[in-house]
Amino acid sequence: HRVLVEELPRAQVMVVSNREPYIHNHSGNGIALQIPASGLVAALEPVMRACGGTWIAHGSGSADRDTVDATDRVRVPPADPAYLLRRVWLSEQEQNGYYYGLANEGLWPLCHIAFVRPIFREEDWTQYRRVNERFADVVVREASCDDPVVLVQDYHFALLPRMIRDRLPKATIITFWHIPWPNAETFGICPWRREIIDGLLGSSILGFHTQFHCNNFIEAADRFMESRIDREHASITFGGQETLIRPYPISIEWPPAALAQQAPVRDCRDAVRRRFDLPSDMRIAIGIERFDYTKGILDRIRAVDDLLTRHPEWVGRFVLIQAAAPTRSKLGPYSALQAEAEQLVSKVNARHGRDGFEPVRLVVRHHEPTEVFELFRASDMCVVSSLHDGMNLVAKEFVAARDDEQGVLMLSSFAGASRELSEALIVNPYDTHGMAEAFLQALRMSVAEQRDRMRLMRELVRERNVYRWAAQMLLDAARLRQRQRITSAN
Ligand code: G6P
Repeated sequence: HRVLVEELPRAQVMVVSNREPYIHNHSGNGIALQIPASGLVAALEPVMRACGGTWIAHGSGSADRDTVDATDRVRVPPADPAYLLRRVWLSEQEQNGYYYGLANEGLWPLCHIAFVRPIFREEDWTQYRRVNERFADVVVREASCDDPVVLVQDYHFALLPRMIRDRLPKATIITFWHIPWPNAETFGICPWRREIIDGLLGSSILGFHTQFHCNNFIEAADRFMESRIDREHASITFGGQETLIRPYPISIEWPPAALAQQAPVRDCRDAVRRRFDLPSDMRIAIGIERFDYTKGILDRIRAVDDLLTRHPEWVGRFVLIQAAAPTRSKLGPYSALQAEAEQLVSKVNARHGRDGFEPVRLVVRHHEPTEVFELFRASDMCVVSSLHDGMNLVAKEFVAARDDEQGVLMLSSFAGASRELSEALIVNPYDTHGMAEAFLQALRMSVAEQRDRMRLMRELVRERNVYRWAAQMLLDAARLRQRQRITSAN
């Protein structure tokens, strides 16, 4: 696109997110590098590798400080530096109020309909505002011009767009909300609903995964703000400034970097079978995600229980490998989920286990992308049973991992990805019996049908990859900048 080529080289691109793309931790043998389990990081990192710029994020690893220079900057990826990572350090009080408190006990359950009650504390709100201000300071300091393109990421930074707008009025601010946006009635229970919407309306463009989430946001702005809504152009004008509200379905890089290091599918299967001590005819389902109550992990284990109860012929022939990365474990609902999952797994294994064989294997630890891809390639099916999910990139990664065009994807209708991957087996995670039937359908699916479905899904993810996601946002931003230049010249 001409407009992109003309506009972007002139612009400084900055990303702001809570989670950093590379975490350095002290380990027994020096400093170990970790790539966090985060859909946001999985999507944005390849974009930044391709276009350079500055990524501003919270430094969270125990050895992060040892890898930066005096200005808190480090060039990454460590093996092949392509862009600048600017780390911001938070105190324990800031981290507790802003990240654990307001973001993850308030906004996360508020936006996901998973029936966990959101908690709103005044002190958390104070810290959230304060951290947003601190990041605004860093953005202004890192800006090398008065009109950078700033890509603000997610629910940790709802107030940041307005704060940047006040100090850099000519900046192009694109904010992407990676989680769902609930209906106005639900969002309205937040005591700071007006401040949050006001903060977001500092953006030039505000993006969500789906049109549905855009509509919900427009409804909330309509109900709670004195704004002018133009539904035809999907824009909101507030305080004399216009914000475009647009759907940009996020995706993954194609082909994924982790695929390059993979052995043939047959070898992956052998390796995983050996690791889990499984016979060669064992059918394998894989579930992999952060250990989060929105992911429907208990629900899928219940469905396995239902499957083996109704269809005992699968006992001893089918296993669910559930990998779960501990996350936000300080918070009650997360530690409770871990405990409940462990109990449920023991119960199901006691009920259906035979001669030392256990049908559910729960592996609670972080997996690096290459390990995740090996598991995907070793399996007969992948289960994504989120109770609610903005997009869910695990579904797209599974499809990308299967260059053999085999494997079945079971996908929750409450994940944004189900709007695009309609050849998956679409399930309702609240319907245990229905999900058990889907397991059965997957187990019985012919090689030819698997190939037909997988081909269509792979075509879609290849085309709608993360570069296209980023390019569409940047293209809209470039058009805005040109339009603004023309109007200000007149
Ligand atoms: C979701 C959020 C991301 C977040 C990720 C991991 O994908 O949208 O912003 O980074 O979860 O969560 P964590 O709290 O570990 O960063």
